[in-house]
Amino acid sequence: MKPINESVNRRPLLGWLIFLASLIVVVLLGILASSIMERRAESVFAYTPQVKHDQWEPRNEVWGENFPREFETYYKTADTSFNSKYNGSAMIDMLEVDPRLVVLWAGYGFSKDYNQGRGHYYAIEDLQNTLRTGGPKTENDGPMPATCWTCKSPDVPRLMNEIGVAEFYKGKWAGKGHEVVNPIGCADCHDAKTMNLRVTRPALIEAFQRQGKNIEDATHQEMRSLVCAQCHVEYYFDKKKVDGANYLTFPWDKGMNVEAMEEYYDEIEFKDWTHKLSKAPMLKAQHPGYEVYLKGIHADRGVSCADCHMPYKSEGGQKFTDHHIQSPLNNVANSCQVCHREETEKLIKNVYTRQDQIIENRDKLEELLVRAHVEAKKAWDLGADEATMKPVLMMIRHAQWRWDYAAASHGGSFHAPTEISRVVSTGIVRAQEARLQLARIFASKGFNEEVAYPDIATKAKAQKFIGLDIEKLEAEKAEFKKNMLPEWKKKAEERESAYQVKR
Ligand code: HEC
Ligand code: HEC
Ligand code: HEC
Ligand code: HEC
Repeated sequence: MKPINESVNRRPLLGWLIFLASLIVVVLLGILASSIMERRAESVFAYTPQVKHDQWEPRNEVWGENFPREFETYYKTADTSFNSKYNGSAMIDMLEVDPRLVVLWAGYGFSKDYNQGRGHYYAIEDLQNTLRTGGPKTENDGPMPATCWTCKSPDVPRLMNEIGVAEFYKGKWAGKGHEVVNPIGCADCHDAKTMNLRVTRPALIEAFQRQGKNIEDATHQEMRSLVCAQCHVEYYFDKKKVDGANYLTFPWDKGMNVEAMEEYYDEIEFKDWTHKLSKAPMLKAQHPGYEVYLKGIHADRGVSCADCHMPYKSEGGQKFTDHHIQSPLNNVANSCQVCHREETEKLIKNVYTRQDQIIENRDKLEELLVRAHVEAKKAWDLGADEATMKPVLMMIRHAQWRWDYAAASHGGSFHAPTEISRVVSTGIVRAQEARLQLARIFASKGFNEEVAYPDIATKAKAQKFIGLDIEKLEAEKAEFKKNMLPEWKKKAEERESAYQVKR
C-alpha cells in the first residue's frame, strides 16, 4: 500500500474528505458523551431517595415513591386481561376446564379448588380466597400451616427478621394472617439501601449450602433468575428439622432433575398425601419452574428469567426494567425481539407448537392416571393385599409425579421442551406398567372386565365422585371472610401506621 501522504498529494480532495469525516466523528462522540452524562445525571436523580424507609418495609407503595417507573409497571400485574393459548393472567377455574384433575388430586387440597396463576399483585388475595386454605375460625384452626405464606409477600422476610426463621414456620396459616398482608414486591427482591438484587428466602440459601455452594458467589446475570427461584421451585415441608415447624425445604440434595428429586423423596419416605381412591403415597409437584428452565437452551445460553419476563423498557429517554411480570407473549417486541429477528407471529407460533406437542401426550398420561387410580381402588375392593399392591402404588406415585412435574412447572413446555417431553413419556411408561400389574391382580382374582371410566364430565360431577362436600367448604369460607378477614386487615393497618417513614 502507498503511504497516505502520497495518495493525498495526488488527489487533494481525498485529504478534505478525511478531514471532514474526522470532524463528523468528533462531533458525534461529543453528542454521545453529553447524552451519557445527561442520563447519568437523570439516573442519579432517580436514585436519590425521596423517602427513607426501613430495610424490611413491606409496603410496595412506599418504595414506589422513590421509584415511580418500577412501581407503576409492577402495579400492572393487577391486569387480568391477557390470555394466550395455554397461559395468561385471567382467573380461570382449572378444575372446571379439566375435571380429571379432581380425581388425580383426590384426598388433597387441590381437588377442592385450583385456578390459573395470576399476577403477583393477587398473591395474598388469591390465597385468602381459595378453598384450599379453608375457613379457619381461630388462630390454631384450618388445614394449612403458616409456611404456606412463604412465597406470597415481603411481610415474610420482615417477619423472619423479627421473630426468626424457624418460628415463622411454626403454627397454622391463620396464626399469621394479620401479619402477612402485602403482595409479592420490592423487599422480596431488593436491598433497600443499595437497590441491589438480594435473596430473602432462607430455603434457597440453605439448598445452595447443602450442595456446597455459596449463593453470594452468584453472578449478576444468575441473580436475575435466582430472585425468581426463591418461589418458582419444587419444595416440601420438613417436619423433622425443627420441632413444631413445617420447615420449607428444596429437595435438591441429590440433583435438580425429576429423577433426583424423586429419589430424594423416596429415600426419606416422604408423601404429600395418601390418594383417596388408590391409597397410593402421593407426591404433589409444586412448581419446579426454575429447575425445568435450567434444562433448556435459553438457560444454557445464559438468558435469565428477567431477560424475558422483565425486559428493559424506555420512557422519556430513560431505560428501566419493566416490572410488569407476565406472559412474554403479551410483549414479544421487548421480550424476544431484542435477540430474535423473526416476526411476532412466528415467535408466538414457535411457543404454541412446543406447547401443543407436549400437551398431546400429557393429556394421554392424565387419562391413564385416572384409570390407574380407579383400577387400584377396584383391586382393593376385590381383596388385594398390601404386599401385592405396594409396587403398583409406587408406580402410580412415580407416574403422577412426572405428570404433575410437567403440568406444574408453569411455562415448562417452552422453557425446556425436550426435557418436559422426556418427563411425560417416562410417566406414560410407568402408568402403563402400573395398569399391567393391576391386570395381573385382576386375573388372580378371576376378574376380567374393564373397570368403567367414571362420569367426570364436569367439576361438580368429579367432586361428587370423590366424595367432596363443596357446599360445606364454601359456607366455611364465607364465614371466614365475614368474620376473621376484616380483623386481619384492621390489625395490619394499626401495625403499619406505626412504621417509620421519613418524607
Ligand atoms: C421478583 C423480583 C423483583 C421485584 C418483586 C421487584 N424487582 Fe425491581 N428489579 C428486579 C430485577 C431482576 C431488576 C433488574 C436488576 C438488574 O439487572 O440489575 C430490577 C431492577 C430494579 C431497579 C433498578 C433500575 C431498573 O429499572 O433497572 C429499581 C429501582 C427497582 N427494580 C425497583 C423496584 C421497586 C420499587 C419494586 C417494588 C414496587 C421492585 N423493584 C420489585 C426484580 C424485582
Ligand atoms: C415471593 C415469591 C415469588 C417471587 C420472588 C416471584 N414469584 Fe412469580 N409468582 C408467585 C406467585 C405466588 C404467583 C401466583 C400469584 C397468584 O396467582 O395470585 C406468581 C405468578 C407469576 C407469573 C404468572 C403471572 C401471569 O400474569 O400470568 C409469572 C409469569 C411469574 N410469577 C414470574 C416470575 C418471575 C419471572 C420472577 C422473578 C423475576 C418471579 N415470578 C418471582 C410467587 C413469586
Ligand atoms: C437474551 C437473548 C434471548 C431472548 C430475550 C430470547 N431468546 Fe430465544 N434464543 C436465544 C438463544 C441464544 C437461543 C439458542 C439458539 C442458538 O444459540 O442458536 C434461543 C433459542 C430459541 C428457540 C429455539 C430453541 C428451541 O426451543 O428449540 C426459540 C423457539 C426461541 N429462542 C424463542 C424465543 C422466544 C419466543 C422468546 C421471547 C419470549 C425468546 N426466545 C427470547 C436467545 C434469546
Ligand atoms: C427465553 C424466554 C424465557 C425465559 C428465559 C423464561 N421464560 Fe418463563 N415463559 C416464557 C414464555 C414464552 C412462556 C409461555 C407464555 C404463554 O404461554 O403465554 C413462559 C411462561 C412462564 C410462566 C407461566 C406464565 C403464565 O401466564 O401463567 C411462568 C410462571 C414463568 N414463565 C416463569 C419463569 C421463570 C421463573 C423463569 C426463570 C427460572 C422463566 N420463566 C424464564 C419465556 C421465558
